Amino acid sequence: MRPSDTPLIDSGALRRRVAELAAEIGASYARYEEPPILLTVLKGAAFFAADLARAMARPVEMDFVRVQSYEGASSTGTVTFLHYPESALRGRHVLIVEDILDTGRTARAIVDWLQTQELASLRLCTLLDKPSRRLTPLHAEHVGFTIPNQFVIGYGLDYDERYRNLPAIHVLESGPDRDARDT
Ligand code: XMP
Ligand code: MG
Repeated sequence: MRPSDTPLIDSGALRRRVAELAAEIGASYARYEEPPILLTVLKGAAFFAADLARAMARPVEMDFVRVQSYEGASSTGTVTFLHYPESALRGRHVLIVEDILDTGRTARAIVDWLQTQELASLRLCTLLDKPSRRLTPLHAEHVGFTIPNQFVIGYGLDYDERYRNLPAIHVLESGPDRDARDT
């Protein structure tokens, strides 16, 4: 498997959209004195969150959550927490930062848990959205790009832990392994 020769979303488009999202998010939190916590879903969203945070004009705090979903033959996608945020979340404005919403199960499980934490507010930001795959109702207030049902890699997204460090988002294609930057 390998990345498509041409990116689906190139690094310039990512940079421009991240700047727009940062402005959009900044505006929606401007009325609060306390900085929001950007709660990043590891590992995929780490790259996006780092760029997003640096594009924000006002202070933000960073925290992380890590979950794993199991997709067994009999299972319907159970989500387990591997790492919980370290911050005290009670009374805080929390923005979940995701790389991609696919079936929505991962984000749903995180939202469900956060809804028990007595937050001041909860919003969801995702870089990519594949709405055609959604199995659970979920609304993201901030969406970078809506994409078709294709498996994508790069800018944090992996295939078997590879390709996260590609600077652009590519479609995963069949063929011999190679890096999209090879010529
Ligand atoms: P759900 O189905 O829970 O899935 O919304 C979200 C998680 O599934 C992974 N995922 C992908 N990873 N390219 C990837 O590298 C993709 O196209 C893709 N679609 C889903 C991802 O880990 C995400 O957090
Ligand atoms: Mg993954």
